[in-house]
Amino acid sequence: MPRAEGRLGHLPRWGAEPLPLLEEGAALAGRRGLFGLQLGLRAVVGFSPEWNRKLLGDLETFRSVGSFSRLVPHLAGGIILTDAPEHAGRRRELNPGFSRPEVGNLVDAMRVAMPPMPRQYDALAWADLAALKMLNAAYFSGEFDEGLLHTFLAPLRRAFPVPILPQPLTRCRVDAELRRLAQRRRSAPRPDLLTFLLGVPDGLTEARISLAAAHDTVTHALAYCLWYAACCARWPTPQQHPALLKEVLRLYPPGWMGSRRVSRDLVWEGIHIPKGTLALYAPYLSGRDPVLWDAPRDFQPERWASKPPAWAYLPFGGGERTCLGMHLAQSLILTVLAQTPPLRVRWGRPTPQPGLTLGPRGPLWLEHR
Ligand code: HEM
Repeated sequence: MPRAEGRLGHLPRWGAEPLPLLEEGAALAGRRGLFGLQLGLRAVVGFSPEWNRKLLGDLETFRSVGSFSRLVPHLAGGIILTDAPEHAGRRRELNPGFSRPEVGNLVDAMRVAMPPMPRQYDALAWADLAALKMLNAAYFSGEFDEGLLHTFLAPLRRAFPVPILPQPLTRCRVDAELRRLAQRRRSAPRPDLLTFLLGVPDGLTEARISLAAAHDTVTHALAYCLWYAACCARWPTPQQHPALLKEVLRLYPPGWMGSRRVSRDLVWEGIHIPKGTLALYAPYLSGRDPVLWDAPRDFQPERWASKPPAWAYLPFGGGERTCLGMHLAQSLILTVLAQTPPLRVRWGRPTPQPGLTLGPRGPLWLEHR
């Protein structure tokens, strides 16, 4: 177990420096791939492919209700807090609207919504705006009040405790705006995600929850892609964009760790894990494990010429709970890269900063080549 601080256990370090804490735990765990933390309640963090497969595959034992998502009002509901056995049916209802072909139909609207790029700009601030506008286009044909959308989503990218504070007034305004747009869609459907979600029971809740899951994850991944593209000696060709995105997500997975609660006692690698334990998987650690990857800390998009080790690359989670918005996120980011003129770095702070999601500390100043 990594160094703890008295009765507070690992909580102070978890709050102040979670990545060094995770890396220390991983170094101590070695090939066992699992270590304990005391976070106010007993927690275990695993990062081996076997652990990832077990946690993401056994939905009866590893439950979402009681996980960290529950603490974040934006994420505490809908599909995110639905557990087995209902979860599979709910995903069957939602998946068709977020499939690769359906998302393909949204690409033109997202492209048109992309904001202009000034000659010099902060890629983090720009990505935040681009994600807002392009998701507004995909979900609502751009009709959602942009100021309100910003007020709703901005707290998710702030430092704790802001993301866990309730915002009852904003939530009421967002729900009213969703109802207003739903009313319009009923008389005149539009080719957007809202029209699809209105055909799903409680679709407006799923729209609100999935938007919250979408915005800062996409912002952070997009900002890192622009930064690393600008770092390349030669501006990457469109054929190289998918590998660039994969490599960004390996090193800087916005969902840097995922949590579940254990519903029964179990033994893993000789370690007894009692019922009620908080069980974490860590895409950040799995993506940087020297047992699984050559030169894991180096940014090498070329590595994607071959397949990654199974259950080692989990930026979108895995199994039945794989990210609902995976195709949407990938399409949005690749659409931006395809439209971006060659850039170079002016200066910036790309150091990863974990909050609710992992992103660059910023700013990331870029300019046209
Ligand atoms: C690069 C961008 C994104 C990343 C890295 C990402 C990452 C993830 C991860 C790791 C999970 C699994 C969490 C867990 O196992 O606890 C997840 C789930 C989810 N994501 Fe994303 N996400 C991204 C974009 C989006 C977008 C655009 C949407 C919009 C639909 C979205 C909606 C969701 C939802 C609803 C879930 C819960 C799925 C379920 O529990 O069945 N995400 N995402």
